Amino acid sequence: MAQAARDRATRIAVIGGSGLYQLDHSAPAGTFPIQTPYAAEAVELSLEQTAAGAAWFLPRHGRDHSVAPHRINYRANLWALHQAGVDIVIAVNAVGGIADSMIPGALVLPEQLIDYTWGREHTFATGAHALDKHVDFTWPYDRDLARTFDAAAAMLDLPVHRGAVYGCTQGPRLETAAEIRRMQRDGCDIVGMTGMPEAGLARELGMRYACIALVVNRAAGLGGGAITHDDVAKHLREGMGRVRALLMAALPQLIGGSD
Ligand code: HPA
Repeated sequence: MAQAARDRATRIAVIGGSGLYQLDHSAPAGTFPIQTPYAAEAVELSLEQTAAGAAWFLPRHGRDHSVAPHRINYRANLWALHQAGVDIVIAVNAVGGIADSMIPGALVLPEQLIDYTWGREHTFATGAHALDKHVDFTWPYDRDLARTFDAAAAMLDLPVHRGAVYGCTQGPRLETAAEIRRMQRDGCDIVGMTGMPEAGLARELGMRYACIALVVNRAAGLGGGAITHDDVAKHLREGMGRVRALLMAALPQLIGGSD
């Protein structure tokens, strides 16, 4: 099945987060179960044939959003994408806003990250594969991909924030106000639960990785009240249309430049 997947020309994958369970609204052109050494069950990749071109799609929380951030099998997901021949991964993540400008609805292309997660299977370098144990991670996100998204956003007249620092917490609970104050002191601009180990694993496999983050709430203690599910759901609904538009505008350039 991995060979059959590799034969599908596209080398681009989108990993969807909360609120993005499909790239386009059309039915996928096919689904490919990819077996990996990291799970008994296969990872199911959807091939989507969008107006902008073909791309793999993988919803990291599952199609029914049943997998919590700390339970996601990040290694199986990234391994499956690599097996399918993917070399560009676009991650979509819902986040909380910490910096003043990171208000609900803002689109962010982070440039740096700080990893606060613990206990997750975070590396392929376990001795089973001939992998470099100390990959360079100075710039965790691919800067050329971020430039491509920035240009696509400008074409659409869509404001995006560049240069942000993404702090990745363990979840699944949201943070305390004091934790957010600490993250603020650390220099985090946004906070999410799924950016790591995904970005690090992509780097270990030599895949280019970019993140489009959508702010869906002010982080704990900054919004003048509790974070409510209804508010988050509203901003997810409103914002994902813009995320899709940005993906569709950038996809032809990614496809054109992936060889
Ligand atoms: N914290 C962590 N993860 C999140 C948040 C948040 O406030 N909002 C959306 N994902």
